[in-house]
Amino acid sequence: TDLAHIRNFSIVAHIDHGKSTLADRLIQSTNTVAERDMKAQMLDAMDIERERGITIKANSVRIEYIAKNGETYVLNLIDTPGHVDFAYEVSRSMQAVEGSLLVVDASQGVEAQTLANVYQALDADHEIVPVLNKIDLPAADPERVKENIEDVIGIDAQDAIPISAKSGLGIPDVLEAIVHRLPAPKGERDAPLKAMLVDSWYDPYLGVVVLIRVIDGVIKKGDQIKMMRTGAAYKIDKLAVLKPQMVDFPELGPGEIGVFTAQIKQVRDTKVGDTITHDKKPCAQALPGFKPSIPVVFCGLFPVDANDFEALRDAIEKLQLNDASFSSEMETSAALGFGFRCGFLGLLHLEVIRDRLEREYDLDLITTAPSVVYHLHMKDGTMQELHNPADMPDLTYVDHVQEPRIKATIMVPDEYLGDVLKLCQDRRGIQMDLTYAGTRAMVVYDLPLNEVVFDFYDRLKSVTKGYASFDYQMIGYREDNLVKMQILVNDEPVDALSMMVHRDRAETRGRAMCEKLKDLIPRHMFKIPIQAAIGGKVIARETLSALRKDVTAKCYGGDATRKKKLLEKQKAGKKKMRQFGKVEIPQEAFISALKMD
Ligand code: GTP
Repeated sequence: TDLAHIRNFSIVAHIDHGKSTLADRLIQSTNTVAERDMKAQMLDAMDIERERGITIKANSVRIEYIAKNGETYVLNLIDTPGHVDFAYEVSRSMQAVEGSLLVVDASQGVEAQTLANVYQALDADHEIVPVLNKIDLPAADPERVKENIEDVIGIDAQDAIPISAKSGLGIPDVLEAIVHRLPAPKGERDAPLKAMLVDSWYDPYLGVVVLIRVIDGVIKKGDQIKMMRTGAAYKIDKLAVLKPQMVDFPELGPGEIGVFTAQIKQVRDTKVGDTITHDKKPCAQALPGFKPSIPVVFCGLFPVDANDFEALRDAIEKLQLNDASFSSEMETSAALGFGFRCGFLGLLHLEVIRDRLEREYDLDLITTAPSVVYHLHMKDGTMQELHNPADMPDLTYVDHVQEPRIKATIMVPDEYLGDVLKLCQDRRGIQMDLTYAGTRAMVVYDLPLNEVVFDFYDRLKSVTKGYASFDYQMIGYREDNLVKMQILVNDEPVDALSMMVHRDRAETRGRAMCEKLKDLIPRHMFKIPIQAAIGGKVIARETLSALRKDVTAKCYGGDATRKKKLLEKQKAGKKKMRQFGKVEIPQEAFISALKMD
């Protein structure tokens, strides 16, 4: 296809504003997929995505469209994930296209993720076409939302296209706007091959599949190619386009988007943002690199049943084939046995992975308290990263501790603003900005990430009855008075419950944790002290009183079978416990204790 007849675009939207529904309509109305093969949300490949209604992996579709001027255009849509954790994937997909449809729910207006994503599109120099969705809803107010887009984002919205992705109203206008309002790609057919590695995933039948955007030159099946960053060379086995299922294609020229396979063993061998060129006749300069995505939230994953350790290892390896942004390392815990310390891009990423492990691999897991990465500045002048609070070295070696901070943008109807400000304040936030657009407030806070990983989303949702939207980006590290709090049960530290806390909040958190554990740990034959401590100094304490009688005592020694039965019951119960010193702690105790704020 010649450049003038190609349009590459993405759709940016806040979660639930109708991005997937619009993508489905575009695919359907151009007969890209036969009607009988059309499933709702074509682009959300994984079940879990469908279930939760979130798009995780960037994906792509090639649409052929006969415009009103009679000419046929190739429209390549690259789907981008909508959630904050995947901001990096959004930014790289944006680099591969020239324009964006900005979908805003006409009954809602601009939300925090609309803003974050549209700024990424503007950063990538996109032409932007605003689309007002859900105009079928009685609450839709297109004129107000146009103004809202202009006020908050600062782009012209007078020509925004009113649509209902649900009913199909306005879809032809969107297709025409893609052709006439978005720019065609630029590139040189005769130049050496230069293609961008946009994404890659593992397919059980084909191995690693690589999504590329050709900038210059032509790529063909059988070509010997080289990845400029890793230096690895491969032969193209299969070249295809996504419709959205793979359809073999002889060659891809400038401006085109497609996939190839080349006997690449692991997703890890493909660096997103890398430049692909011909091995023999390479292009002069690689594309500017992308920043790699680094895990920011860590937690331990342990099998409830120690016999499932190997199964967990296998499952983690399988998931990593497809998701190089999630890291894992073996970990042992005195309380929880063998497991893995895993790193994630954010909390949602953590939840998605844990869910998949439990559901697809049928594993019961204990997740330890999520922790961010701290920077320990040691007295000897070196810096160490701390991924696990249990590894915190003795304080005499540590000069100071730095924690990651984020810039959080929250949009909320003004009646809930007070509660949001209080929540942010309680989480050690520093207010940076507060503005209004109509009856909605936009507030920007500088917050410690560790205060957000616990249950910030949930609290934010509950104090605003679901009306707030939230987005964040990392802004750097800052020193604060951070200490490791240990929990001691019967005078023994339970490493899985260790956490880093701000010194000023340690007492409150310690007391709450001890109270909770007191309710969760069953009574034993002896008294059990439950304590929270900082460096040997106890800051909170509860005592679990001893059982008065043993379980068999009420049998008066007479009925031997009944006594045996009771003992057997007790034994079965024990299996679900973790022996800890002399104390047995049930699984639920860890899970519930870690859930709290
Ligand atoms: P994520 O995949 O989570 O980012 O969400 P999304 O932006 O892709 O939204 P999705 O297409 O899943 O739509 C969200 C909800 O809005 C679904 O329940 C849709 O059925 C509904 N919806 C989408 N478009 C319209 C519309 O035009 N009118 C109405 N009434 N509902 C719509």
